[in-house]
Amino acid sequence: MSEANAVRGRVSLTRYLIELERHDDGRGPLPPSLRLLIEVVARACKQIAHEVGKGALGGVLGEAGTGNIQGEAQKKLDVIANEILLEANEWGGHLAAMASEEMATVFPIPDHYPSGEYLLLFDPLDGSSNIDVNVSIGTIFSVLGCPEGTTPGESAFLQAGSHQVAAGYAVYGPQTQLVLTVGHGVAVFTLDRETHSWILTDDGVRIPEDTKEFAINMSNRRHWEAPVSRYIDELLAGHEGPLAKDYNMRWVASMVADVHRILSRGGVFMYPRDAREPDKPGKLRLLYEANPMSFIVEQAGGAATDGRGRILDVAPEKLHQRIAVFLGSKNEVERVTRYHA
Ligand code: AHG
Ligand code: MN
Ligand code: MN
Repeated sequence: MSEANAVRGRVSLTRYLIELERHDDGRGPLPPSLRLLIEVVARACKQIAHEVGKGALGGVLGEAGTGNIQGEAQKKLDVIANEILLEANEWGGHLAAMASEEMATVFPIPDHYPSGEYLLLFDPLDGSSNIDVNVSIGTIFSVLGCPEGTTPGESAFLQAGSHQVAAGYAVYGPQTQLVLTVGHGVAVFTLDRETHSWILTDDGVRIPEDTKEFAINMSNRRHWEAPVSRYIDELLAGHEGPLAKDYNMRWVASMVADVHRILSRGGVFMYPRDAREPDKPGKLRLLYEANPMSFIVEQAGGAATDGRGRILDVAPEKLHQRIAVFLGSKNEVERVTRYHA
């Protein structure tokens, strides 16, 4: 292919979305306002990638000196990424409100800007413990429709994940990538650092149904529930055990990076409920971590449960509620879910 053809053959994020806007396969075309909203989020992720890349030279590392509603110490980049997403999305007219891991309550669109039909939720910087050690981190987002006639307060956000109209994440790693679903499968865009545009590099991503790789924080083993201990014991028993194969383990401690690996080559990711804080059903947050990742994983042919049932069917009760997460290769997720039954 000549250089010119190679350029013309490239599909940008804008082109990908406009083609979905034109194309109605029975699920309805992508609404233009949703396209514009996704483009603004993607632009904000580019800006976050830029800040992340400055590292020590930009003074973006280290603690912010503040805490969030979850009782976690905020890093400077948690706060910077949150601000970038708020600033980018507040004036466009597509949103009724936003909610974030880093904000105790919902952020209504200021009165001097037009209000729109969608709600945006985000984990502005996922994998905060990896920021200062230069390991992959990311941004996770979820888009819901704002129920008609409701004031966009907390209750408007309490919708099951199956109502999401779009979800995605950006991963800031050796390459910066954006993974997106609007319910038409999963597409991956890579940031072209020369032209500063998102270019489609994979579409129709499929997670293999079987795997030999698992991800869990083994240091919590003594706190797990019996079905999780049983499952992990079986994996560790390898070829001689009941599953009759040797498994490999990876744990990045950035959900985006662990999920991204699973989308790329399969695997099962687990953050089970544990006995450390009995009132918290898991570490990860339902609305802006578990739901968007579950939507993506299901769209790629994988499965996502809380050990009991499908995550996307859970009716949320609180904005920052937590949930146990088992997601990835279908057959493994189904097995560990069966052990809970
Ligand atoms: P966040 O940085 O947004 O608070 O999320 C961190 C989450 C998730 O990304 C990761 O899978 C998990 O916490 C890591 O937990 P451990 O520290 O227990 O490994
Ligand atoms: Mn997170
Ligand atoms: Mn976070």
